Order: sequence, then C-alpha cells, then structure tokens
Amino acid sequence: MHVTIAGVVLRSPVIAASGTFGYGLEFEEIVSLDRIGAFVTKGLSREPMAGNASPRIIETPAGMMNAIGLQNIGVHAFVEEKLPRLRKIPGVVILANVFGTTIEDCVEVIRVLNDAPGIAMYELNASCPNTSHGGMVFGTDGDSLYQLALRCRQAAQRPVMVKLTPNVTNIGLMAKICEDAGVQAISLVNTFLALAIDVETRRPRIANKTGGLSGPAIRPIAVRMVHEASQAVSIPVIGMGGIVCAEDAVEFLLAGATAVEVGTATFADPRAVENIATGLRRWCASHNVARASDLTGAMVK
Ligand SMILES: Cc1cc2nc3c(=O)[nH]c(=O)nc-3n(C[C@H](O)[C@H](O)[C@H](O)COP(=O)(O)O)c2cc1C
Repeated sequence: MHVTIAGVVLRSPVIAASGTFGYGLEFEEIVSLDRIGAFVTKGLSREPMAGNASPRIIETPAGMMNAIGLQNIGVHAFVEEKLPRLRKIPGVVILANVFGTTIEDCVEVIRVLNDAPGIAMYELNASCPNTSHGGMVFGTDGDSLYQLALRCRQAAQRPVMVKLTPNVTNIGLMAKICEDAGVQAISLVNTFLALAIDVETRRPRIANKTGGLSGPAIRPIAVRMVHEASQAVSIPVIGMGGIVCAEDAVEFLLAGATAVEVGTATFADPRAVENIATGLRRWCASHNVARASDLTGAMVK
C-alpha cells in the first residue's frame, strides 16, 4: 500500500487532513497512527491565533461549513509542547501545515520548523488572505501564489507541498504555477467559500458570515479539480474533498492523485481515517490491484 511523495515513503496513501485531526495527540488513543499514511497538523502560524467568534461550524446537507479562523497555538508552542510527545508515538508520520498572511510570516514558520526534528514534509496552505496585497487570497492570484511557493520552497529544508484553494476558475494553471516555483507536491482541495442564512432571524448562520464548505457535498467537484491539476503537472497530487469510504479514496486515485487526505469524515467517526486506510487495502486485494500506486491516474477515458 505504500506510496512515495517527494522521497517520503508513506505506508498507506490515506492521510488525516489539516484542521480535522488537531495536533495528532488528541487521536493517539483512538486511531493507530502507525496504520495511516500520515497526519497533517492544524495550520501553524508565527504567533498563536484565537480564531473567529462562534457559531463557527454548522452542518449542511452532506457536509459542513466552518469558519474556525485558523485558531492555533502558534509554531513555537507546537515545537516545544506537542512535537516531543508526538515523536514518541511509534511509526507516526507528521506533516506540518503552515500558513501566514504575508510571505515573510510563512517563511518564518518554516524556519522554526526546520530546526525541529521529526517532521516529514510541509503543507503550505495557500488559502489565506495576503495582507500585503489587499487581502486577496494567495491561491487565487497567480503572481502571489508563485512568490509564496518559491520563497517557502527556498527556505524549506524539507519537501514542500502547496495546498490549493478550489475557489478559482483554472485549477490546472494554479497547479502549474506551483510546479514552476519548484515545490515537490500539491494538495487539493481546501474548502469552498459558502454562505448559509437562517431564514427566521435572517442572519448568516456563521458569525463570520461566510465559511468553507467541506464533506461529501463537494466530492465530485474536488475529483474534477484533482483530475485537472494532475493533468497539468508531473509532481505528485494529493487529493481530498468529501472522502468517507475506501471507494471514495479510489475515485481520487483514479482521477490522478498519488495519495488522499480525509477531513470532515473524522467529525462523524473519529476512526474514519484508519478505517478508510484498512478499507483501501481490502478493496485493492479484492480487485486484484497489486499496488495502490497502480490506481493513480488509471481512470478509463
Ligand atoms: C473544521 C475544519 C478546519 C480546517 N482547518 C484547516 C487548516 O487549518 N488548514 C488547512 O489547510 N485546511 C484546513 N481545513 C480543510 C481540510 O483540511 C480539507 O482540505 C477540506 O475540509 C476538504 O476535505 P474534507 O471534505 O475531507 O473535509 C479545515 C477543514 C475543516 C472542516
């Protein structure tokens, strides 16, 4: 079942997605962390962040909306308080999710992480507003995305995977821009910008007004975008968006993904990532698929 991404060997292509798996430690007693491919930390910023006011999560048909506001303990506290305990868990593979509202902030987070042992790769969240460019989201503007990816790749002493926002018209172009900047992989999709209104109060159902939609509701759109991105680049693509069972993971692999991430499914079943990893192994065995990597891009046109 193993796959290799930028020289990092994962024992399964199934990874726990950022923001839905805490700092890993919260799941130590629930999920066998040595049976999943890896887990991605909650997004880490230069300084701690309190996040948005509540309500900041609501359920939607076949999914959920969130506007957590990237609440996190900050990169220093992660390195000092969480990482030493995490590294003691046998077989765990840690991917650190990095973000900032300026390129310098992202670079600084990466520099701090470079000095910390035990991290396999960085996932750079390009879905944040770029305060140097009037709040335009890094990942929706080609020039900003290129500069972000380039500077972070140059600063990083580990492989960098850029996580793309789906809120663009040409995802293949955004994927290619990341490849041109020299990063080793891309992941997609982050959440879709959404709005839900309470018709009785006439107020937005989320305090932040808008939120990000995730879960099975977005899956066919995410599969389409992963396919388009994988056609545009030759670096590995990690796919996600609404995966709840092994067959969903297979769909993303067939579309062109080398590995997948599972997010929202963990809210319904905290063991979802491990169950999907086990399910994928069984699915491959029962379908005479020798290697999970044989599925990548194997969609019949
Ligand atoms: C509550 C919540 C928090 C999230 N926080 C982050 C985050 O900090 N960084 C990030 O890159 N993505 C974050 N995401 C996006 C997920 O990692 C994933 O890209 C998205 O939810 C789509 O996958 P899914 O449908 O399996 O959840 C978050 C998603 C949710 C639902």
